[in-house]
Amino acid sequence: MLRRVNELHPGMDLIHADEIAYHSEIQDDEFRETFLRCCPYSMVHVTGFYNVYQSLKYIRDGGLPGDIVECGCALGGVAIFMRLLVKRWGLNKTIHLFDTFVGPPVGSADIIHGGGELVWTQAMANHRSGTEQNIIDITGNLEGINIVEGFVEQTLPVASIPELSLLRLDTDFYESTKIELEVLYPKLVRGGVIIIDDYGYFQGSRRATDEYLATIYPKPLLNRIDTAVWAGVKP
Ligand SMILES: C[S@@+](CC[C@H](N)C(=O)[O-])C[C@H]1O[C@@H](n2cnc3c(N)ncnc32)[C@H](O)[C@@H]1O
Repeated sequence: MLRRVNELHPGMDLIHADEIAYHSEIQDDEFRETFLRCCPYSMVHVTGFYNVYQSLKYIRDGGLPGDIVECGCALGGVAIFMRLLVKRWGLNKTIHLFDTFVGPPVGSADIIHGGGELVWTQAMANHRSGTEQNIIDITGNLEGINIVEGFVEQTLPVASIPELSLLRLDTDFYESTKIELEVLYPKLVRGGVIIIDDYGYFQGSRRATDEYLATIYPKPLLNRIDTAVWAGVKP
């Protein structure tokens, strides 16, 4: 059963260790301790985790209402991180996780950062139970977690989504990012945080985001967090 990110991306543990050493400007002990517990289950970089940490602190301190969504939870690393903080800080927020647990639709293709083409050719064996076990091992149970399994192109149009304070999109490709923004951005409260994990990395994610933002006013200012992640606040 797939459990750790190293099984998908060998050497990711070394990358995470290097990053936390390199980014000495990130000094919060609480962040570093929580990141180290969750990063074995995530392909997100320390800068992406710190963006989530800062976003949740902003939501906590501002008393923002609304649940949390991550589209593309994979092995659960960021989801577990958010659940630990929500629980520790006593926030009354459910974390809704959308994923197929078998990867993107077969045939998904895009140009990635640096100019290479990425084509998804084969479905993975379903690893939902591995992700659930990761959440249970680190947080103790599945309380406060709502998992919606399937392709977001099919699950989101029929999902019952409450208002949101944080929306984190991490499904890589154009089609999924497009439907996620169309269905979920309107659910984000004013002042809520929007994070597009793939805006800097996948051309299709950027195109879907730019196309959607061109249809709304006022639109959020998205700022670069790292090579992949861009984030903003809904005005
Ligand atoms: C880059 S990974 C997410 C990484 C994760 N947030 C972490 O903490 O490591 C992308 C995930 O998006 C999921 N995904 C891609 N396309 C999807 C779609 N159309 N519907 C649902 N999930 C999708 C994949 O199955 C994969 O688990």
